Amino acid sequence: MKAVVVTRFGAEPQLTDLPVPQPGPGELLVRLHAAALNPFDWKVVDGALKNAVEHDFPLVMGSDGAGVVESIGAGVTRFRPGDTVYGQFMNVQHGRGSYAEYVLAAEDGKIARMPDSLPFPVAAALPTASMTAYQAIETARLDTGHVILINGASGGVGQSAIQFAALQGARVLATATPDIAGHLRDLGAHETIDFRAAPTAEQVLAAYPGGIDAVLDLVTQPGGDTDALAGLLKPGGILISTNYAAEPDALAAREVRGVNLGNNPSRAELEALADLAAAGKLRVTIDAEVPLADAPAAVARARSGPARGKTVFLP
Ligand SMILES: NC(=O)c1ccc[n+]([C@@H]2O[C@H](COP(=O)([O-])OP(=O)(O)OC[C@H]3O[C@@H](n4cnc5c(N)ncnc54)[C@H](OP(=O)(O)O)[C@@H]3O)[C@@H](O)[C@H]2O)c1
Repeated sequence: MKAVVVTRFGAEPQLTDLPVPQPGPGELLVRLHAAALNPFDWKVVDGALKNAVEHDFPLVMGSDGAGVVESIGAGVTRFRPGDTVYGQFMNVQHGRGSYAEYVLAAEDGKIARMPDSLPFPVAAALPTASMTAYQAIETARLDTGHVILINGASGGVGQSAIQFAALQGARVLATATPDIAGHLRDLGAHETIDFRAAPTAEQVLAAYPGGIDAVLDLVTQPGGDTDALAGLLKPGGILISTNYAAEPDALAAREVRGVNLGNNPSRAELEALADLAAAGKLRVTIDAEVPLADAPAAVARARSGPARGKTVFLP
């Protein structure tokens, strides 16, 4: 099968041929129809999990994908050949990922059935980006009239977070360059903030001198400074970072809650998310559909931005 692999940490991704794997007990083999790119995919290549878990090389890149169950191993009861499924397939310990024609998954892994009406590229775009957005907005516990800033709103997580926050009745401030501001307002953002025109926090403070209720920070990287964003929050507010940039103790001293969110979807949440997307209640922007063979070049492009939605690979 065709697969995009790296042979060591920091290596360039390359298209290669690998044997089609066979499902062991409790596993299923999925023929992927689409895989989606997330920043985490190249962060793993850079060594994000290096000290946490063993990696098996060559390592197939990627987490998110959607496809059809090709065969099942002994003891599998929840899935049958022919089922359409989607989810997170990354398993670095076994060198498994979604940038491939086939991938193995554990029956009790982060995968779920998806409605047949949901296009594979849309399903593949959901598990990490939209699920993180969903879990972040749940964590924020927004109420009608609350004001939330989504910093990094123009990318995959941000576009879904706008929609979930607006559904909660919150007033959504979304960072965006002018080329995508209209699209983000269409998704539910009430105001857009051109972060290249002036510092985001300065612009928000000028408009909301009394403070806002929540910040979802998708931009600040680990070790980065969230002070200016935290300074926007009213007492009792919450700052959620998807990049482990929040310092909960320091934030608690300012009477705000800091949460570092790592997405961790349950099967029920995956099923619910797919249903929302199939019903048109969650809109996903597919920025580019790229043949799997071109994934190495697409990863290189994505590393340097810009991101205007999801990049999807088609095996
Ligand atoms: N912890 C978790 O479970 C988890 C899950 C998903 C994602 N993440 C992380 O969350 C972040 C966002 O993920 P994503 O999938 O949404 O990435 P993405 O699709 O690449 O989007 C990132 C967006 O941030 C924007 N941006 C960059 N610098 C900015 C700035 N200074 N101010 C405002 N916006 C800025 C970019 O806009 P331009 O393109 O215009 O620069 C881009 O649209 C990534 O770091 C990712 O690794 C973590």
